Amino acid sequence: MSHLSSSVRSAAPATAQCATAKISILEATKIYAAKTGPVHALERVSADVYEREFVCILGPSGCGKTTLLWAMSGLHALTGGEILLDGQPVQGPRPDQVGVIFQEANLLPWRNLLENIEFPFEIKHQKVPRDLIVALLEQTGLAGFEHSFPRELSGGMQQRASIVRALAQAPSVLLMDEPFGALDAFTRDEMNLLLLRLWSESRQTIVFVTHNISEAIFLADRVLVLTPRPGRLARAFDIPLPRPRTVEMTFETEFLELMREIKGAVESGSRRTLEV
Ligand SMILES: Nc1ncnc2c1ncn2[C@@H]1O[C@H](COP(=O)(O)OP(=O)(O)OP(=O)(O)O)[C@@H](O)[C@H]1O
Ligand SMILES: [Mg+2]
Repeated sequence: MSHLSSSVRSAAPATAQCATAKISILEATKIYAAKTGPVHALERVSADVYEREFVCILGPSGCGKTTLLWAMSGLHALTGGEILLDGQPVQGPRPDQVGVIFQEANLLPWRNLLENIEFPFEIKHQKVPRDLIVALLEQTGLAGFEHSFPRELSGGMQQRASIVRALAQAPSVLLMDEPFGALDAFTRDEMNLLLLRLWSESRQTIVFVTHNISEAIFLADRVLVLTPRPGRLARAFDIPLPRPRTVEMTFETEFLELMREIKGAVESGSRRTLEV
């Protein structure tokens, strides 16, 4: 029997069965009331994300990944089911606990890089953690660009700045919605390595949305595969690859076997939906 078969599990990870659920997704259902009629985006998705875990949510475009992430962040409500954070229902955004990183860096164009990173502290009237910001700018290769404006930075640099902005607030959970989707393949690899390096030190709980199978395997402890809309949980895969991960691993047999198996799950999810 391949080790991969034993690594395929329900929505609970092999390594964290006794761990505390940081986030619990309980029968999450979302139906949007669009002008053209109801849009059924999510159907009874249930899963736990454990403390310090790195979970990727993988699925085709339009299957409800952003919808699920926004519900986790409290940015919008579900139609049915609920999300628990540390056992408490999520009823609205909690920026001190939950950082959100979007596909676009969303920097304010009239503020320089440092002023953008300090902005959330200004609006909350909180002390700026200067030492942490200096360390993060150093780690992300942005030291020296503090006074540059967003238009003077590359897409990768802007996205790194948005990561620094989120991490500076020391949230215990980071929710990331295809944050590197707009970047070229080389920059994307670099950003994934950088993210893993930062995470190995800070060990937040991370939920990372992507429709890229290779990216999901490279980053995650566990990959949750959603079916096409309405998104249902198709399968969950433990990723038993050792850490630290390297780009070379993506060419090795174990990685390629996982790719094949997860691609199969994504495709059979699609077929099931087409047959309905
Ligand atoms: N505000 C909204 N009003 C109506 N329908 C919406 C709204 N937001 C999303 N939808 C619909 O819900 C479905 C799921 O959307 P969602 O953005 O969550 O998908 P996704 O998996 O993130 O897709 P992508 O990979 O393209 O970002 C889509 O069919 C979308 O058109
Ligand atoms: Mg999306």
